[in-house]
Amino acid sequence: MINFTFQNPTKVLFGKNTIRQLAGEVPRDARVMVVFGAQSARKYGVLDEVLGALAGFDITQFGGIEPNPEYDTLTSGIALARETKIDFLLAIGGGSVIDGAKFMAAAIPFGGEPYLLLENKGDAIRRALPLGAVLTLPASGSEMNNRAIISRRAVSWKRAIMNDFLFPRFAVLDPTKTFTLPAAETGNGVVDTFVHVLEQYLTYPVDGKVQDRLAEGLLLALIEEGPKALREPENYDVRANLMWASTLGLNGLIGAGVPQDWAAHRAGYELTVLYGLAHAQTLAVLVPAMLKVRSAGKKQKLLQYARRVWGISSGAEASRIDAAIDRTKMFFEAMGLPTRLAGYGVQKVDADKVAELLAEHGLTAMGESGDVTPDTIREILALC
Ligand code: NZQ
Ligand code: ZN
Repeated sequence: MINFTFQNPTKVLFGKNTIRQLAGEVPRDARVMVVFGAQSARKYGVLDEVLGALAGFDITQFGGIEPNPEYDTLTSGIALARETKIDFLLAIGGGSVIDGAKFMAAAIPFGGEPYLLLENKGDAIRRALPLGAVLTLPASGSEMNNRAIISRRAVSWKRAIMNDFLFPRFAVLDPTKTFTLPAAETGNGVVDTFVHVLEQYLTYPVDGKVQDRLAEGLLLALIEEGPKALREPENYDVRANLMWASTLGLNGLIGAGVPQDWAAHRAGYELTVLYGLAHAQTLAVLVPAMLKVRSAGKKQKLLQYARRVWGISSGAEASRIDAAIDRTKMFFEAMGLPTRLAGYGVQKVDADKVAELLAEHGLTAMGESGDVTPDTIREILALC
């Protein structure tokens, strides 16, 4: 096992009616900005429930944060928050709203141009306003981590920042709030979570038995519960398991002390920028192709994944690995996500452009072993 430091300060309030506990979590004298997306928080009553729980608090609302939160939208929220002297942010939504709120939390007290905080993976962040999250879409893990992914369409980029000031103070996880998710978003959430686990598990062995068993447990839970959520969107226990799996999938626990990959995520950001695919759609396409092209470097863990997650233990090694990749693909498809770009209407991918955008971001040696080069990316995209 590799040395690690693990600290996660986010308090989790999990279960039915937990929104009612908000008043005990937000400081009584805070000037709160409640931040949300285009319409779901309002339409399905979560916004009203939050406002009800915070009756008597000083509240400003800022809605309209879009999927792949856009810098220009966030800067108008930052300006409004500065004007109204906001000192606490409360995000209601999925990864996009929570990530957007995290960036705002860092930018509001920052003296310089907000985009400077997005340089160097967020290293310049020195403080941030306190932030809470009410999660309505389990997928990103943002509700309990220190990351935010921000897009700026005008300059064709989507970037990740990571900084401990971005951890939410608390996260309210009420699975009933996910009953309204359209099937497509349920599928996206399960696939994104599954891939978060793979990025921290399918690398090379370091005898991290605890991490491996935790990761395999999450994968098995997703395989069991994911398809059920499509059939029974209002099954509380199914939604509860998916919600907790997504939070644990990217809150630092399973990745502590083991190598991590993240090449599919980083290349996926460029597919979102170029072709407008949703985040999980990029992963559904890239992951099977990546595993195929990179199977030599990941051989030991792929065989373990085949055996422990998919029950594939006989046959030649190469055919076991192929079968595990096929099962992975079939699972993504069963969750409603095509695994080829053509399934999203992209007939031809500009692999040079993807490699070029990655290179512009300094990403020419990605993956757990730094061997995912621009050429590897071209080879992977040829299979997509
Ligand atoms: O905007 P509204 O109307 O609220 O609709 C949203 C949005 O259109 C809708 N939605 C959310 N909750 C709902 C609901 N619809 C019905 N009922 C509900 N309960 O779902 C749509 C998608 O929401 P979004 O927040 O974009 O989805 P997701 O949670 O998948 O977040 C994606 C973003 O997270 C980033 C991605 O890159 C992408 O920008 N990620 C963030 C990570 C992190 N912070 O650690 C890691 C991830 O790998 C990921 O990169
Ligand atoms: Zn993701």
